[in-house]
Amino acid sequence: MTSAKKTVLINDVTQAAELLRGGKLVAFPTETVYGLGGAIWYPETITDIFRAKGRPADNPLIVHVADAEALDELSPAVPPIARDLVQAFWPGPLTIVVPKREAVSSLISAGLDSVAVRSPKSELARSILKECQIPIAAPSANRSGKPSATTWQAVLEDLDGWIDAVMKGPPCEIGLESTVVDCTSKYPRLLRAGSVTPEQLAVVCPEIEITGPLSAAANSPGLRHRHYQPVAKVIPIQEVLSVSPCPTRAMLTLESHPAADLFGLYRRCHTPEDYAAVLFEFFRQADRRGITEIYCQLIPASGIGRAIRDRLNRAADSQ
Ligand code: TXA
Ligand code: MG
Repeated sequence: MTSAKKTVLINDVTQAAELLRGGKLVAFPTETVYGLGGAIWYPETITDIFRAKGRPADNPLIVHVADAEALDELSPAVPPIARDLVQAFWPGPLTIVVPKREAVSSLISAGLDSVAVRSPKSELARSILKECQIPIAAPSANRSGKPSATTWQAVLEDLDGWIDAVMKGPPCEIGLESTVVDCTSKYPRLLRAGSVTPEQLAVVCPEIEITGPLSAAANSPGLRHRHYQPVAKVIPIQEVLSVSPCPTRAMLTLESHPAADLFGLYRRCHTPEDYAAVLFEFFRQADRRGITEIYCQLIPASGIGRAIRDRLNRAADSQ
């Protein structure tokens, strides 16, 4: 399928909101990654989102809202634990999965009777959502299978010609997608790790089930698909010294490598948060330079480390 739209770069919140209200596709920054937004009440708009991303129809979308009041418009029965999580973490990088109202198209939920909802913290995203007053479905603004876009340039790289506009905002602060928690069964369950950590979730909800990625796959269809993969091969490593540098290799690390200059691309991060913020753009930079192997140092699975390990392992999977 070929692209047909003329994609424009915009700066103005009112223009973004007007385009969205008119059923157009507008990518905009959130604190996690850029989202590819479309108003949820127009079925053609939702179909357009799937087409623009090349996304399998069985992978449901997250609906973005300005505040918690909008939840009842989407769900007939918001579980008390979902309200507690919302109270603690919204606006912010937490998505909750709750029972879906019939009015919400099953195209969005990929046929499930639940819907994923999030209220982002980014001021730009919040202003757009407030001004357009319609809930906005927004998957990450990348072609399906590719690393998520954390800059407007990365959005254009993947979606130029497929969407109507890109909001020219700053690079995303967190750099990894939101934490997803399923609140539809007796005990809430972590479906996707993110910057809201299991430790933080457990404070609000001690009975939360933190399962491994495989058992979560059945409940979060998105986890079954190929994800986060640059063209270059991603190779997670423990020891930076185990890698000999050369111009076709890239390294992303928390410890310095003594021959850093000899890599085609090299970045040392000082904190796990830094590492998360640059990870997807690092993958894309490596591809732009024709790098063939990207070595990424694994970090402990605590805090945001769990989400980083999850993305790295899936980027490295079956390449
Ligand atoms: O940070 C984020 O969440 C970003 C920004 C743009 O908000 N969005 C994002 O969307 O990452 P996407 O489409 O790339 O990932 C959505 C995830 C997928 O893993 C999908 O399977 C899961 O949410 N999901 C959506 N609806 C669901 C549902 N009803 N039940 C279970 N999982 C669901
Ligand atoms: Mg995505």
